[in-house]
Amino acid sequence: MVNLATKYLGLDLKNPLIVGSSGLTNSVEDIVDLEKKGAAAVVLKSIFEEEILLEYESVMKEIAADDNNLEYYDYFDYKIKDDNIKAYIKLIEDAKKAVKIPVIASINCTSAHEWTFFTKKMQEAGADAIELNAFILPTVLNRTAEQNEKIYFDLVEAVKKEITIPISLKISYYFSNLASTIKKLSETGIAGVVLFNRFYSPDFDIDTQQVVSSHVLSSEKDLPISLRWVSIMANRINCDIAASTGVHDGKSLIKQLLAGADAVQTVSALYKNGTGHIQS
Ligand SMILES: Cc1cc2nc3c(=O)[nH]c(=O)nc-3n(C[C@H](O)[C@H](O)[C@H](O)COP(=O)(O)O)c2cc1C
Repeated sequence: MVNLATKYLGLDLKNPLIVGSSGLTNSVEDIVDLEKKGAAAVVLKSIFEEEILLEYESVMKEIAADDNNLEYYDYFDYKIKDDNIKAYIKLIEDAKKAVKIPVIASINCTSAHEWTFFTKKMQEAGADAIELNAFILPTVLNRTAEQNEKIYFDLVEAVKKEITIPISLKISYYFSNLASTIKKLSETGIAGVVLFNRFYSPDFDIDTQQVVSSHVLSSEKDLPISLRWVSIMANRINCDIAASTGVHDGKSLIKQLLAGADAVQTVSALYKNGTGHIQS
């Protein structure tokens, strides 16, 4: 039998196929099923920075309670979010008990604010690594490229202070100097980069004249962008590379490995074909 084992983020993977962050990895039952079907690791659905910040606000609330100064806080909204973050920690703990494959936790983030303390809780819950889904679109007109890029470096620096498990950074290709930025990011102590994440694409419904989201799922036609950049960056940076976007079959997975990816993430293909598609 062919040995497909590889290493990614210092973790031993039985093969290079990781199920990427999405609703596919949002329950222990589904994660157990993905392991059975052959996934080598899973990235959990991201928890959002805002959800974690609300827990931070709860700490502030306790402090404020001492001062009888509670009126700032919307208790009910906070309560809902608090349940989300408790559920997320439980998902990590339960998934770790239920499967042998690595479980990578994920945070959707746009800044390096107070939420970074939560990465420590994720580590304590047993996460094997943390993927930071840096959800930053450079749309602010008076902000320079350097200011935009600094957010990523601040993010990594803040999270590195909290945890000792590997960190991977999932980024987009919206950089003015992509190759150089990826190289510099790889020198910050992160263990891997994920090339690339996929933002929702706004579109118009011309009949209702409403904005709608489009192309939520990728197609195999989306492969070339990540394939290009994995090829360009492989062996030139100081961390691993996971290829992501447009991997819809075994052939495209092999192409990403030929390009130099250490591991490959897939999501849309499993939504379209079912998780049994991992086998093929
Ligand atoms: C329904 C759905 C939910 C997703 N949720 C997340 C998420 O929570 N965090 C994240 O980092 N990426 C999320 N993604 C993006 C995927 O992880 C992946 O980067 C993207 O779909 C491109 O890979 P693909 O071409 O294999 O689908 C989601 C994608 C889909 C389709």
